[in-house]
This record gives sequence, C-alpha cells and structure tokens, in this order.
Amino acid sequence: MDLKKYLVNRCALVDRALDKLMPPKEEYPSIINQAMRYSVFAGGKRIRPVLVIMAAEALGYRAERVMPTACALELIHTYSLIHDDLPCMDDDSYRRGKLTNHKVYGENIAVLGGDGLLTLAFELIEKNSEVKGVKPKSVLRALQLIAEGAGTHGMVGGQVVDVLSENKKISEPVLQYIHTHKTGALIRASILSGAVLCDASKRQFAALKSYGEHIGLVFQIVDDILNVTGDARKLGKAVGSDAARKKVTYPGLYGLEQSRAEVELLSEKARLAIKVFGKKAGALNALIEYLKERDA
Ligand code: IPE
Ligand code: IPE
Ligand code: MG
Ligand code: MG
Repeated sequence: MDLKKYLVNRCALVDRALDKLMPPKEEYPSIINQAMRYSVFAGGKRIRPVLVIMAAEALGYRAERVMPTACALELIHTYSLIHDDLPCMDDDSYRRGKLTNHKVYGENIAVLGGDGLLTLAFELIEKNSEVKGVKPKSVLRALQLIAEGAGTHGMVGGQVVDVLSENKKISEPVLQYIHTHKTGALIRASILSGAVLCDASKRQFAALKSYGEHIGLVFQIVDDILNVTGDARKLGKAVGSDAARKKVTYPGLYGLEQSRAEVELLSEKARLAIKVFGKKAGALNALIEYLKERDA
C-alpha cells in the first residue's frame, strides 16, 4: 500500500469537491467567502475527510458515496482551527504555513468565517442524501454523530476544558478528557459517519469506533510531541507554544518517552480493532503508521 500516492489522490478529490461545494469568492458579501476559502485551501492534511473515505472503502464503497460529508468534516475542522487561533483562544499567528485567518481578515470576519464554515457543513451533510443508494435514515444518523462530535459533548467541550486549564496543575482524567474531546471526538465522528453512510453492520461499526478512538488519541499525543520536538516550518504553525501558555499536554504530564510509548500502545490497539476488515483495511492500517511517524 503506497499511502503517499493514495493520499495525493484522495486529497485531490476532496479539494475538487470542496471547491465545488463552497460559495464562489465573488458571491456577495465576498469577504466572507474569501476568508472561508483562505483557511480551507491553506494546505491542511485533510485527515478527517480522508478518514470518512477510508471507512467507506473498508466497507466496499467508493469516495463519491460519502464526499459531501467528508467535505463537511473538513469545514468543521477548519472552523475549529480559525477559532482556536483567535487572540482570545490560543492567540496564534501562523496556521497551515500562512498567517492565521484573523491576522488577514480581522477578528470579526474570522469569527464569522468560522460560523459560516460550521453552518455550511450541516448543509453539506444533508446533501449526502442526494447520493444514489444512500438512505435518508443513514444521513440523519451521520448528522447526529457529527453534531455530537463537534458540540459540547465533543470538540467544543474539549476546547472549553483546554482553555480553562491553562496555567493550572491538571490531573490525569482532565488531560484524558481534553484529548479525547478536543481532537478525538471529531476524528471518531469522521470514521463513524463514513460507516453509517455505507450501512456498516453492528460489528463493523464497533470495529471502526474502536479504531477511531485509538487513532484520535494517537493524533493528539503526536500533536503535543511535535509542539515540543517539531519544526515550525514543516508544521506550518508555532512550536513551543504549549509550554509557553502552560497548556496541559501528554509530554507535559508524562514526559516524551512515556508519551511515545503510549502512541505505540494505542497504535497497536487501533491495528487490532480493524483486523476484521482484512485486506480492505490496507489504507486504514497504513494511516496508523503515517500518524505515528508524521512530522507535519
Ligand atoms: C491540528 O490538526 C489541530 C488539532 C486538532 C490537533 P491537523 O494536524 O489535522 O491540521 P491540518 O488540517 O493538517 O492543518
Ligand atoms: C486544537 O488543539 C484543537 C481544535 C482546534 C479543536 P491545539 O490548540 O492543541 O492545536 P494546534 O497546536 O493549535 O494545532
Ligand atoms: Mg487550542
Ligand atoms: Mg492551538
């Protein structure tokens, strides 16, 4: 499995669909469309839409079946980054190798751009019901899973505890809550929305859920590690910022070595979870290695 080639191909499909599904730059009031497009097309890795597609492929379907929902997840993720970078949140100046949204468009448009992306995402999920073979009931279930993953029971909840925990001595359960919610919840929702849109059986759904939970945590622990050891140019965002803001992180609480050991352990569990898919899990398996080894 050549994951690099696979990712280039699937990301191109996602980018093309995003371009088609987002309002054109010129549409009035054009500033908001420019701001939304600026961050969406700034060069993200597209992990969440790719996960929706990988779940579909593990179940024997093609990317087209889940594409509007895959795009919706990238929009929700991008909105969360725009808001996460605001001065009242993490106050960052660089994202995806470019100036953050508020640095270019101002805080008012950055907030509204995030709002616009989040709202458009739900319009796109509804659009998935127009894809041949997809049951309206499955779209509703995907919608529920994504709303739960993005809202106060998921990402927003995690962000709340993250910002309120700055400069505080934090216990293990709180760190666990932050990580499973601020990042894990949307990653899990990505895989599970792909699963329900492709009529996963109970057993398949449970396997993908377990995979999603484990790689979600892998993803955030590696993000924490890279904030300590990474290269800002490769990452396209600042390093050392977690320590500077006294953020609660894995390396902060357990040290780098133990954080890396945890990544190994969780990766193994993710691998075991998808054994049921046999050869069809090639991309999902390769992604575990990629997430573990990434430097960007
Ligand atoms: C970064 O996510 C923020 C977190 C949720 C940890 P990604 O590393 O997926 O960012 P992009 O989309 O590639 O920019
Ligand atoms: C971002 O987490 C999580 C969300 C945007 C939901 P971080 O604040 O740790 O990620 P970076 O380092 O800014 O990408
Ligand atoms: Mg943050
Ligand atoms: Mg941040």
